[in-house]
Amino acid sequence: QILILDFGSQYTQLIARRIRELNVYCEIHPYTHAPALTEDIRGVVLSGSPCSVRDPDSPNPDLSQYLGHVPVLGVCYGAQLLAQQGGGEVLPATIREYGRARISHLDRSSPLMRELSLESQVWMSHGDTIQTLPPGYEIIASTHEVDVAAYHIAGQPTYGIQFHPEVTHSTQGKTLMRNFVVDICGCDQSWTPEHFVSSMVAALQHTIGETDQVILGLSGGVDSSVAALLLHEAIGPRLHGIFVDNGLLRKDEYEGVLQAYEVLGLNVRGVDASQEFYSALAGLSDPELKRKAIGRTFIEVFEREAKKVEGATWLAQGTIYPDVIESVSVKGPAVTIKSHHNVGGLPELMNLKVVEPLRMLFKDEVREVGAALNLPPDILNRHPFPGPGLAIRILGDITPQKVLLLQKADAIFIDSLREYGLYDKIWQAGVMLLPIQSVGVMGDERTYEQVVALRAVTSVDGMTADWAHLPYDFLAHVSNKIINQVRGINRVVYDISSKPPATIEWE
Ligand code: XMP
Repeated sequence: QILILDFGSQYTQLIARRIRELNVYCEIHPYTHAPALTEDIRGVVLSGSPCSVRDPDSPNPDLSQYLGHVPVLGVCYGAQLLAQQGGGEVLPATIREYGRARISHLDRSSPLMRELSLESQVWMSHGDTIQTLPPGYEIIASTHEVDVAAYHIAGQPTYGIQFHPEVTHSTQGKTLMRNFVVDICGCDQSWTPEHFVSSMVAALQHTIGETDQVILGLSGGVDSSVAALLLHEAIGPRLHGIFVDNGLLRKDEYEGVLQAYEVLGLNVRGVDASQEFYSALAGLSDPELKRKAIGRTFIEVFEREAKKVEGATWLAQGTIYPDVIESVSVKGPAVTIKSHHNVGGLPELMNLKVVEPLRMLFKDEVREVGAALNLPPDILNRHPFPGPGLAIRILGDITPQKVLLLQKADAIFIDSLREYGLYDKIWQAGVMLLPIQSVGVMGDERTYEQVVALRAVTSVDGMTADWAHLPYDFLAHVSNKIINQVRGINRVVYDISSKPPATIEWE
């Protein structure tokens, strides 16, 4: 594997993505917790950073256990740090070094520069520049503005590059990463979804005792479903899936998902706890109070059901890599804007050990693994759906009647997206039931009914999102269908806000 030492750059995750795209396994570790060098580590990448090496408080770890022993690639801050530690001079850049630049000089004999071309575009993003290199450091690439765009330390496989090969604006960045990871570090490109499945299944069989029983909460989403399939491969019916109907799911979702799990041969039990959730939510309008009531009720129901599994010692969770990185990153966990509910606290409460088979995978890798395990496309490509479900799409208090109304409108919207071939182009979509009524006219009758807002966004990870520019014809079709078929709704509007400053959900 390749070790990525993180100095807090916004691009660190991208370095990992690029390496994994080469079918090479890599892990990100904060520089404050740099792992000891083992045989498994075939190379080290030092990330960029928002800090300046000239600042006395900036990250400055001792890298001697890696340097000279294993190939090292410093990227941006990483390159400046190695230059400064070697006795070179790093100064504030006098000219703007942000954005596109072109390579003006290349040392073609360097294995890092193999197959790169002169004038190819690279992406710069730095405030400091390497003014003088220490003795023994050789320039292997320059741009028109920057002499030291890349260097090599003579006699050892250590390299520094000032630009960012991990961003797609560096057009030959992928070639450079391949040169480092495959040619210089000697990693074989064998880390495929199939390889992940077989090694994870073996690891799960090794970790989980031969008679141990494992509990997993399923949601019908990709992550928990893929986690279930992996565990099923490993331990068969000793996996006990629990799928709770909180009464806030999409129309026909509960039955549909349970049936899909049955076809897959998974040992999953459905629990209809709708009434308990409705009671806990009765009279609550505040979004955070609703989330808390749902989280609390979920834990109650889940604990009760889990206790029915005799001899359970493990709780499996569908945690994925971005959540792990977020919680251990140099910058610390991000500020909570909305309290997403999960089963936090449950393992301690029930004295269970936690197993997380997906904790090293990015979302698109989870999908690839799901495809390798024959998860049906319907679940594989499903839009994200929030844990509290329709409760945060019904503004104000929740009643079973409102849920029913919203389920009907939502089903029309989602089915129409599929019909028009738009579903897979959208990152997430849903309908919001607004707490207002508006006047309309139907036939000769005046109506005074509810308003719904359609929400559809494009996004990469949900952190930022653009409202989807859906065709007018399509919006007209959905609006007509909802107003004609769902009694109680007489007006449909389309949400044209992006995130930030709006959020995807309305609550
Ligand atoms: P926002 O509304 O914050 O949503 O832009 C970003 C993503 O998170 C989902 N979301 C939630 N998921 N529990 C969840 O499990 C929650 O309380 C919650 N709130 C928002 C939202 O659907 C979107 O995908």
